[in-house]
Amino acid sequence: MTLGKAIPHDSATGHVTGAARYVDDLPTPADCLHLAFGLSQSARGVITSVDLSAVRKAPGVLRVLTAADLPHVNDISTAAHDEPLLAKGEVHYQGQPIFLVIATSHRAAREAAARAEIGIEEKEPILTVEQAVSQNSYFEGGPLTWSRGEAETAMQDAAHIVEGEIEIGGQEHFYLEGQVSLAEPQDNGDMVLKTSTQHPTEIQHKVAEALAVPFHAVRVETRRMGGGFGGKESQGNAPAIACAIAAHLTGRACKMRYDRDDDMVITGKRHDFKIRYKAGVDKRGRFVAVEFDQFVRCGWSQDLSLPVADRAMLHADNAYYLPNVRITSHRLKTNTCSATAFRGFGGPQGLLGIERVVDHVAHTLGLDPLVVRQRNFYNKTKPQETPYGQPVKGFILPDMVKALVDSSGYAERRDAVAKWNAENEVLKRGIALTPVKFGISFTLTHLNQAGALVNVYSDGSITINHGGTEMGQGLFQKVAQVAASGFGVSLGQVRITATDTGKVPNTSATAASSGSDLNGMAVKAAVDEIRARMTRLLAQLHQAKPRDVKFKNGKVTVGQDELTFGDVARLCHENRVSLSATGFYATPDISWDRTIGRGHPFYYFAHGAAVTEVVMDRLTGENRILRCDILHDVGQSMNPAIDIGQIEGGYVQGAGWLTTEELVWDEKGRLRTHAPSTYKIPASSDRPAEFNIALWNGKNHVPTIYRSKAVGEPPLMLGVSAFLALSDAAAACGDSYPDLDAPATPERLFFAAKRAGK
Ligand code: MTE
Ligand code: MOS
Repeated sequence: MTLGKAIPHDSATGHVTGAARYVDDLPTPADCLHLAFGLSQSARGVITSVDLSAVRKAPGVLRVLTAADLPHVNDISTAAHDEPLLAKGEVHYQGQPIFLVIATSHRAAREAAARAEIGIEEKEPILTVEQAVSQNSYFEGGPLTWSRGEAETAMQDAAHIVEGEIEIGGQEHFYLEGQVSLAEPQDNGDMVLKTSTQHPTEIQHKVAEALAVPFHAVRVETRRMGGGFGGKESQGNAPAIACAIAAHLTGRACKMRYDRDDDMVITGKRHDFKIRYKAGVDKRGRFVAVEFDQFVRCGWSQDLSLPVADRAMLHADNAYYLPNVRITSHRLKTNTCSATAFRGFGGPQGLLGIERVVDHVAHTLGLDPLVVRQRNFYNKTKPQETPYGQPVKGFILPDMVKALVDSSGYAERRDAVAKWNAENEVLKRGIALTPVKFGISFTLTHLNQAGALVNVYSDGSITINHGGTEMGQGLFQKVAQVAASGFGVSLGQVRITATDTGKVPNTSATAASSGSDLNGMAVKAAVDEIRARMTRLLAQLHQAKPRDVKFKNGKVTVGQDELTFGDVARLCHENRVSLSATGFYATPDISWDRTIGRGHPFYYFAHGAAVTEVVMDRLTGENRILRCDILHDVGQSMNPAIDIGQIEGGYVQGAGWLTTEELVWDEKGRLRTHAPSTYKIPASSDRPAEFNIALWNGKNHVPTIYRSKAVGEPPLMLGVSAFLALSDAAAACGDSYPDLDAPATPERLFFAAKRAGK
């Protein structure tokens, strides 16, 4: 049984040695052409003139396309049809593609693109939340509110009220492999694409639309991504469609990869938020009423902003019962890149809102924030409903937090921090324990389905294919473990193959952390089907009962008789029994109405908690994470090595988002932080010096694959403990609440410490 074992990522060696091939490593076909976009330098305006003569004359250039030259639909959007591949008369953000250069090399295409003379009559861009609200620049016409009870009236009975606001910055995905696609034209005008995407099916559909062909004329293949993090759910559409159109027009293979600066300027990032809050609590710090206004900077087009903003609302409670609550979401249209999916999909921002409120309440009441958290947790024995009406079942956080408090020595360390702060004027310490409860399922219910194709060859070797994509998260290995366990063979007998729209059709994006839940189940269904056929045949040949046929350790036994798995495969073939099967899975028990904000959108919740201790220099704001302890709930782990890797990476990425990763747009809407020189992601040296991660050992209370739980996104939100530990350190500089905004850069921390006090 390989399930449950700590087995390394299937490509671990390849990743480290460079042997694992990414799209840009694939040998290109002869005469392959290369593409580059010409980008808008203005955030908003009308295109008055386009002089591309110097571009056309540049060395190596074959063709230059503008919107007018596109053969069919000019659209790269996920659904709203509001995002052209090439600008149509107007530009809406700095970095918007205006024209496409097709040249003989990557470099020639890029150099040529820089030679364009574009006239733009500039308009005043809408950049900030305040500008967008005052100009009523909303998607869907205005704000969306979900509520339970009467927050405003209930607030009157509160013993204490806290009010405030927190700014939460966005985040660049900084996948190590940038956006890249390769299109190869086939017979009959068909197109094959190799592309770095979390959503091969969407690329298939969008390319078909752009070429005006049926879906069956386009095949998309993805072996692996060098990281996606949500940034390859929709952002791969533009280069893929550009390659397909160029390949269609020239009859030659076409490849496009964004240079890093272009990638950072063109593609969407995590949504930045401003959250205004008002919360009423009783004398013991228990919530009576909470009101949130979540202002979401969505950028210029819709992309995935509506479901992202929905998920922020759905996580405004995190782990706490809010009896009376109003959550208003303002989805603002601004002249910035179109913000997109990023690990947690709005959940982290919503969750940080309520964690900030808890912290503020604790400061006001003079309580340890942990005590306020514990007093407000959902009831673990009698399920209470979330603001959207889903009963919180299987709520294990109170027990997990107790265990983490013990294992991390939280109480003693809280005292030690206080003692340190009393004795030290310059270096201040802080500590925070924060929980995560994250809803698992796509909120668009029909996306919660998956398909698989399993083939057994007559020598007993196996290939598996499913709709999920591999972006480093270890999905392929987990699913291979499912198949190997199902057939009772070793992992080496199962070959992982590239995701391919020609093998498994109509798939969802690999997102919402549900990759292994969905595809694991779909592959299991196919494996079970083939094994049942094998069992029937063997029972018949050996005149035995089906239950006497056992698959174990690479052997198949029928009573006293023993065969190899390869023998059985050969027997099936000789007896004309099919060794190929498809599998399908649809998540049960979910339903959701986003217009009224009610239903049962999540199949279950995944949990976790982290304690972070930090130190900051109040004279400079410089800071360090000293130690982090995590206890995380992955149900029954299919692969503890991969799960711990996800938790470690998630925490560091979450802490990076809330500390060093700062996106800066200037007053003209130009992104000034478009390279690693100005945008600081965590380095290996930023990993906490002491980093203890443990898995909560328990089975999922609902039947998932192997009773495991999704692990991809939830751990990112453990990084909130680093942010609130820094806020705690700033608070130690005085008596006032420091009102720290995110990311907590040294500058912000310095000023927060000043606001706190003395
Ligand atoms: N881990 C790595 N190494 N690279 C990634 O790009 N993406 C994250 C998470 N973990 C990502 C990752 C995101 S945003 C999601 S939704 C999940 O993995 C997707 O994979 P899963 O559903 O198989 O967990
Ligand atoms: Mo993950 S943000 O759902 O791709």
